[in-house]
Amino acid sequence: MANIAGYRRPVPGTQPPYLHPPYRSSIKRAPEKPLVYLPHTLSEVTGPSFGHELIDVKACDLTRQHSGEPLGERIILTGRVLDEDSRPIPHTLIEVWQANAAGRYLHKQDQHQAPLDPNFTGRGHTLTDAEGRYRFVTIKPGAYPWGNHPNAWRPAHIHVSVFGPAFATRLVTQMYFPGDPLLPFDPIFNGTADEDARNRLISLFDWETTIPDQALGYRFDIVVNGRKATPVEGPK
Ligand SMILES: [Fe+2]
Repeated sequence: MANIAGYRRPVPGTQPPYLHPPYRSSIKRAPEKPLVYLPHTLSEVTGPSFGHELIDVKACDLTRQHSGEPLGERIILTGRVLDEDSRPIPHTLIEVWQANAAGRYLHKQDQHQAPLDPNFTGRGHTLTDAEGRYRFVTIKPGAYPWGNHPNAWRPAHIHVSVFGPAFATRLVTQMYFPGDPLLPFDPIFNGTADEDARNRLISLFDWETTIPDQALGYRFDIVVNGRKATPVEGPK
């Protein structure tokens, strides 16, 4: 099992640091000593793989996962997963999770004063197609308060994971909405110092994706490495 190449590390400066003191929980979480990089082994480099047989149509339509319809503004979230040369990443698992329209997660640790929606779980997944495209139908999540500092509110966002070909390549990030007034105040969004890189976390409103009389469309392309890489949580 010699000479396993492993995966290239990200270009320095394109990703948020582990430690960003305005994001309070990063203080406890950030490593205090230099990281020791472990070599990738066969199990990190080669698997797992996910096939289309695992994908239920309801998994990419978060408005159809229950007997009734969720409350909130319907949106289409679509985009492409690309490498640094704009080549598509086909047939890769992409997962999303989000708060409901009132800004509440279906999670026991989220007990803030907003209603749960019995018709909305807030989780979905799909595979990209041969051109690297993905598409979700969902509702626009609400902003929610968090305990980072007095009167702290997260801007509306959808959490996104791109798995890639192996455990070592999984990326997790957050997608935001254009024009959100909370963005300049959000320590997580602003944890990426480079403005261009940070703005790659904001989706684009897209008439092409909009469904007339039904849903507005947002486009969010994800670049998995290189100088145009989408910032992700926790440098690899
Ligand atoms: Fe969140």
